[in-house]
Amino acid sequence: MKTSNIMSEVDWNAYSRKYDMLLAFNPFYQEAFQRIMDQLKAWNIQAGGKVADLGAGTGNYSVEVARLFPEARILHIDSNPTMNKTALEKAEGLQNFSVLDQGIHEVEMQEQSLNGLLCINALYTFPEPEEALQKMYNWMIPGAKAVFLDPGRIMNMFSWRVAISRYLIKNYGLRKTLAIFKEAKVVGQQNAYIRAMQKNGTYWTHSHEGFCKTLERTGFEIETSSICFKGDCDLVLARRPKLN
Ligand SMILES: C[S@@+](CC[C@H](N)C(=O)[O-])C[C@H]1O[C@@H](n2cnc3c(N)ncnc32)[C@H](O)[C@@H]1O
Repeated sequence: MKTSNIMSEVDWNAYSRKYDMLLAFNPFYQEAFQRIMDQLKAWNIQAGGKVADLGAGTGNYSVEVARLFPEARILHIDSNPTMNKTALEKAEGLQNFSVLDQGIHEVEMQEQSLNGLLCINALYTFPEPEEALQKMYNWMIPGAKAVFLDPGRIMNMFSWRVAISRYLIKNYGLRKTLAIFKEAKVVGQQNAYIRAMQKNGTYWTHSHEGFCKTLERTGFEIETSSICFKGDCDLVLARRPKLN
């Protein structure tokens, strides 16, 4: 991946303050969330099993996974302390949920110890995505499943705004829509930084085929793959192949 001198970087602290407005008001985030949760419900995670969520943010997924598999242990991993703080607040009372405040490059885990893995909206931001994928693969037990959702195309901010505005106006009216956009200003700003970092090569961009090929090169077997978030993201359900 290219390195570059960038003037503006994503501030995950700032983003964390309003990140959950995505789940509350962004229909594309909501749709992907529902699709992924529906898939996770079909996972067979035994009591004592371990599931990790990498780049887990405010815990939208990891906390739900902890509720879905109360007998399993859920490891929420993220390098941003304020994202993690929000996740911990949401997970209050859940005994099977723990947070690892580390960047992916620092994380050490026993090989073949994970029964499931999620990496949602995060891999493209990791410094060496292919190396990170290899680590994830090595941590998984043969036969374990993974879900990846990764924004691969450079975000078109204008088209996003139009699509979300249409949805919000239809569902909440103009006045509330304007109030939502005002409150979510920081989200728009941080997404603009993400776009800039995609454009200058700091963040990984890929085609759908390129993403699937990278996963297969790592060793993953793809079960299903599709495109979501208005064509900008790739959603892949994969697994580490079982031993023969
Ligand atoms: C867009 S958020 C996704 C959060 C969550 N997975 C979701 O979909 O709601 C990306 C997350 O990746 C985290 N992140 C970025 N670089 C990271 C790294 N090198 N190691 C671990 N986490 C990282 C950020 O702190 C942020 O919380």
